[in-house]
Amino acid sequence: MKWIVCKDYQEMSRRAAEMVAQCLREDPNGLYSFPGGDTPLGFVREFVGLVNSGKADIRRASYVSLDEWVGLSSQDSGSCGYFNRQELLDALRVPFAHVHLIDGAAEDIEKERQALDTFIHQYGPLTVSVLGIGLNGHLGFNEEGSSFEGGAQVIPLSSTTKKVMGKYFDRERILTHGITQGIGQIMEAKTVILLANGEHKADIIRRALKGEVTPLVPASILQRHPNAYCILDEAAALEL
Ligand code: GLP
Repeated sequence: MKWIVCKDYQEMSRRAAEMVAQCLREDPNGLYSFPGGDTPLGFVREFVGLVNSGKADIRRASYVSLDEWVGLSSQDSGSCGYFNRQELLDALRVPFAHVHLIDGAAEDIEKERQALDTFIHQYGPLTVSVLGIGLNGHLGFNEEGSSFEGGAQVIPLSSTTKKVMGKYFDRERILTHGITQGIGQIMEAKTVILLANGEHKADIIRRALKGEVTPLVPASILQRHPNAYCILDEAAALEL
């Protein structure tokens, strides 16, 4: 995995958006996926700016969300789908050709898991997978111990995720599982872009980028991806 250290969050966001725009030029019919969470906000806004000013063309491309809290849909503030809708899909002046947002509130979550696999099978494999990283190294909701292979998963939330998740919601949420693209699907992406900012991510970034490749640090598998980039700010790169 190559890493690109940027002076701050804004530069990290801009570099990532430009990289995705370049991939779109090379593969305008491809399948693109972005994460939820705090990290990608600047990136998504930069990307929307590039699309809305005609510098990136998404009209033939497809989009799939990375993950979702089981129990929440894109109507619930703080959910990944809500972020995707508000910051990306509703902000774009032109739409993607095909979109799949994971519905974590689906009555039949197994059927929803299969629908995610089906969409990725139909329009994929992923051209670009943009990812954030959890404090425990999770990718999407692939928590510690998740398999490095295979498709969409429904996974119990780790204690680390449960500790952190309060920051996304304006009221208390009792959530126990996440639904997520599998690491196998992420590893099949032509290009992977891992984003990280802030000093609190420095330790896990070192373990993911330089440590042993182990399911205990799911993001460490990206060391084996042939075209993976970590774009991070100076604070997150402190221990590299
Ligand atoms: C969340 C999500 C991930 C996200 C990660 C980092 O729980 N499941 O998709 O990338 O944790 O989140 P943040 O960017 O808020 O630090």
